Amino acid sequence: MIPYGKQFIIQEDIDAVVATLESDHLTTGPKVKAFEEALSKYCQVKYCVAVANGTAALHLASLVLLNKGDKVLTTPNSFLATSNAILYAGAKPVFVDIAEDGNIDLDLCEKKLQKDPAIKAIYPVAFSGHMVDQQKLKYLREAYNVTILEDCAHAIGAKDADVKAASCSNSDISILSFHPVKHITTGEGGAITTNSKEIYEKLLILHNHGMVKTKEMKPWEYEMRELGFNYRITDIQCALGLSQLKRLDNFIDRRITIAQKYDKVFFGSIVKPLYMYDGKSSYHLYVVKVDFTKLKISKVDLFNKMREKGIGLQLHYIPINKQPYYKSLGHGDEVTPNMDKYYEQCFSLPIYPKMIDKEQDYVIKSLFEMLQS
Ligand SMILES: Cc1ncc(COP(=O)(O)O)c(C=O)c1O
Repeated sequence: MIPYGKQFIIQEDIDAVVATLESDHLTTGPKVKAFEEALSKYCQVKYCVAVANGTAALHLASLVLLNKGDKVLTTPNSFLATSNAILYAGAKPVFVDIAEDGNIDLDLCEKKLQKDPAIKAIYPVAFSGHMVDQQKLKYLREAYNVTILEDCAHAIGAKDADVKAASCSNSDISILSFHPVKHITTGEGGAITTNSKEIYEKLLILHNHGMVKTKEMKPWEYEMRELGFNYRITDIQCALGLSQLKRLDNFIDRRITIAQKYDKVFFGSIVKPLYMYDGKSSYHLYVVKVDFTKLKISKVDLFNKMREKGIGLQLHYIPINKQPYYKSLGHGDEVTPNMDKYYEQCFSLPIYPKMIDKEQDYVIKSLFEMLQS
């Protein structure tokens, strides 16, 4: 099976994990700290807290950034976890239509900010590895004094001009995910980045049961100061993460090479890339648009027939606001013509660093055969 994404593990990664298994530290130890420092350096950000997964990162970030009842602008084109985190904090997601590149439309965000002072935050997602326009984000943050959380689960290694993903250059917090389909993996895993010492210190406490232990306390003492969680990541996972991080730039180079080949073969055809390579994306996903109304084959048949050929297409994403749970909260009827059209036309093709040329050629050939059938 050629899936839409998968991890790339080599002997060096396995050796790193085994060495940690043989060490004294399995849970929080030196590898967690080293991974956090390496991530901070890579993302060009001051602070990083590694946690159990990207969803935990979003949860804690939302508890720190939001108050109950706050309205938060976010995108329908993401994994459920992005807007679920807004709900975890007792806040209210407001779904905004997407722009051409699949990201939240920041111009529409501005229109909403002009009308509604109850909007306190924006949660943009760097969808597929393509960051939102950082100049516009900076402007909105300053002009409307709005809190920004960037969901960079797809985007480690991406950049917009000189701004690196998860550097928090124009946001309060960014989050990352290390699920195996992402750029680097720790099995499950995630991280929160920020340039604020105050936010960092809150996150440290919250991800470990709300507990504080200081040098002044008695040897056995600890104090619970917040209602926190056990969202810790392990040294075993961070050993893998550190080893993977060494090869991240190579992984991204390979993803870009695959994307550029897709761009080239689809040029002028019925398969339209969501965007052509513009030096920005780190390509967690390669998304294409096809107008199925002009073809004999439906999207469902295409997915099924490609699966019979051993190729896993995927759809990122079903609009979150149309999910039954969100409908039960009154969502679903937002006016999002771009998202509606996107959902009809788009799907993701396989892209992962371990993918070899022969596999990509097979994907391309099979796709054209199916679409022309
Ligand atoms: C955009 C986005 N945000 C958040 C998450 C949640 O990350 P995790 O699976 O590590 O909990 C995902 C996971 O797929 C994602 O795609």
